[in-house]
Amino acid sequence: MTASEIRALFAVASRPEVVSLAGGMPNLAGLPWDAVGDVVSQVVAERGLVALQYGSGQGDPVLREQICEVMAAEGIEAHPDDVVVTVGSQQALDLVTRIFCDPGDVIVAEAPSYVGALGVFRQYETEVVHVAMDEHGLVPADLATTLARLDAAGKRVKFLYTIPNFHNPAGVSMTLERRPEILSICQRAGVLVVEDNPYGLLGFDGESRRALRADDEGVIYLGSFSKTFAPGFRVGWAVAPHGVREKLVLAAEASVLCPPSFSQLVVSQYLATQPWREQIKTFRELYRERRDAMLDALDDMAPPGTQWTTPEGGFYVWLRMPPGVDTKAMLPRAVTARVAYVPGTAFYADGSGADAMRLSYCYPTPERIREGVRRLCDVVTDDLELRDTFGAGSAGAQRSPSADPVPRALGDSRAVNARASTPAPAPDTA
Ligand SMILES: Cc1ncc(COP(=O)(O)O)c(C=O)c1O
Repeated sequence: MTASEIRALFAVASRPEVVSLAGGMPNLAGLPWDAVGDVVSQVVAERGLVALQYGSGQGDPVLREQICEVMAAEGIEAHPDDVVVTVGSQQALDLVTRIFCDPGDVIVAEAPSYVGALGVFRQYETEVVHVAMDEHGLVPADLATTLARLDAAGKRVKFLYTIPNFHNPAGVSMTLERRPEILSICQRAGVLVVEDNPYGLLGFDGESRRALRADDEGVIYLGSFSKTFAPGFRVGWAVAPHGVREKLVLAAEASVLCPPSFSQLVVSQYLATQPWREQIKTFRELYRERRDAMLDALDDMAPPGTQWTTPEGGFYVWLRMPPGVDTKAMLPRAVTARVAYVPGTAFYADGSGADAMRLSYCYPTPERIREGVRRLCDVVTDDLELRDTFGAGSAGAQRSPSADPVPRALGDSRAVNARASTPAPAPDTA
């Protein structure tokens, strides 16, 4: 186990003078606090004996019914028996990896991918092989060739891990056209699909994206109340075919006995008594305003040669630097300038991503976001100037070898925003 780049960052990024564009913390200021307080009191007063007791390893039956209602918005027709409530979707990820993977097994994941998933995959000593993404999400042709290559090499691929909607960290979504193609590639190769969808209901156009699980009951679907309600309750879930679901429950019981009864009942009471769909609309508006602030600021201030994605939901923008900038080496200078981000290398299992970073717009106010982008752009501009003047080494900028199957796939796409530049001299000749 190794500390993730995000973990080390939390200490510095939480200083008040630093504008943190690093963490992906939901903006809880948007919650109706009085109503949440009432819900908690009701649960204690009316259902205390159940709420404070051990419960079922699979999760509260009423909550599992409600989860099916929530997923119906994404076209999923599931039975409450198919649902396993977990301690956040993070525990579901852990359980799925634990029951399927032996050391050395291969998991195929998007390039880049969610840092928390990579941590789980590493812990079970699996090998992560990345597949390219572009502005339309995971690239089917690259998935097909990667699976064929792994098969020819005699590798055992256990599953495809994908975040189809409002990707963390890439900020793009898999188009509807690509979804059946990706499902059929995996079906033909006999590879299971694990769909992680914590942001699916946070699309800025208000439309829910159809889940992969809606068209294939063999898909393992991971959901969460962390982004649509509150992460502090730690309530997520997995939907899985019968045989898998039984193993998930056994594995969960072995690690936590049961998901927390109190949190489950609070979430259940909240869904039963509060206008949760309206609350999701409130969150969408709050995040859309912040997304706009970040994109406007980047449009105004990003130095030549940078490129970034346009998220249509969720929390994140993926920012690609001109070739040669090393975002990990640049981070201490950024923190000194009172702005924090997550270097791209955190999101790759193979050490690539040094020329990219993840920016989160979910938490700061629009004004702070603009100020954070201003500080960041100053740091990048200084880095580029130093590099131009003294050569690559002086700014800590080095080209890292990229194992990305389609290097700069996200950065090269046309739907990402790009600031035109006169081509920068190659760092090794400048
Ligand atoms: C893609 C993705 N999956 C899973 C999680 C874990 O969420 P939780 O355990 O809070 O449900 C997160 C949290 O940021 C995430 O971004």
